[in-house]
Amino acid sequence: MATLSIKNLHVNAGDTEILRGLNLEIKDGETIALLGPNGHGKSTLLAAIMGNPAYTVTEGSITLDGQDVLAMPVNERSKAGIFLAMQYPSEVPGLNSADFYKAALNARREQPIKLFEFYSKLQKAYAETEIPFEMSKRNLNEGFSGGEKKRNEILQMKLLNPSVAMLDEIDSGLDVDALHVVAREIEKQQQTGTGFLVISHYARLYSLIHPTRAAILVNGRIVVEGGPELIERIDREGYEWIKTEYGVSVEKEIGKPMNDMSIGACGTKVKVNG
Ligand SMILES: Nc1ncnc2c1ncn2[C@@H]1O[C@H](COP(=O)(O)OP(=O)(O)OP(=O)(O)O)[C@@H](O)[C@H]1O
Ligand SMILES: [Mg+2]
Repeated sequence: MATLSIKNLHVNAGDTEILRGLNLEIKDGETIALLGPNGHGKSTLLAAIMGNPAYTVTEGSITLDGQDVLAMPVNERSKAGIFLAMQYPSEVPGLNSADFYKAALNARREQPIKLFEFYSKLQKAYAETEIPFEMSKRNLNEGFSGGEKKRNEILQMKLLNPSVAMLDEIDSGLDVDALHVVAREIEKQQQTGTGFLVISHYARLYSLIHPTRAAILVNGRIVVEGGPELIERIDREGYEWIKTEYGVSVEKEIGKPMNDMSIGACGTKVKVNG
């Protein structure tokens, strides 16, 4: 279990500043629903936490139980317990799935895992995520359908047993049955104390995994934080009410000059950064 703390985070993609002073904390065992309009920086946040080199942190800090995450290379971030299920998982031709999982597990151990132990663990993970074991022989994500890729991300989460799991639109592309399988596996992982940061545009997944809190990312900042009731409101009304209730301009395209943000009368659930 661990606390991931993000303070005043500024992140550039190329020359464009995408995150503009973002604050967020994921405490032990919490599940945070991260919502926000398209293109406002949700995936960028997760990529920056994981250490994707396409994104440059220009200011701010990310710590995991006080450890400086930004000072760690990607593999150390993973070994420290941070996990990312990507919005668009990459196909890796030439990398056998089972070999990849074995290498990932061994990177976390003093002694290499015994073959029998590895295969039992692998078979159990495939069975519980309801993925045919035959797929372990295929190259990672190569030719996988959209839903297979997403389900495979959950399989990786189970194998790696992270302390903080970040799931980027894990529900996109899943059929109804697969959505229930994925939700069940997330719930099992929640019970082990893993903290979750879960991006989805739809209330359906959230209704199955019961987030403890919700955070809304607009214009590169978390502009509203509150209870799960925020999810239902966004599902019903979209994001326009943020503009009217909190005086935050919701830009259609990030990267354009941003109006100053102001806050109207707001309750304790509101947090404006910067
Ligand atoms: N590598 C990159 N190079 C240039 N621009 C980028 C890069 N990555 C992201 N962006 C831009 O940053 C902005 C935020 O993108 P991001 O993927 O974080 O949005 P998002 O909130 O996850 O949106 P969605 O809900 O559509 O997934 C977008 O305008 C996007 O085009
Ligand atoms: Mg995204």
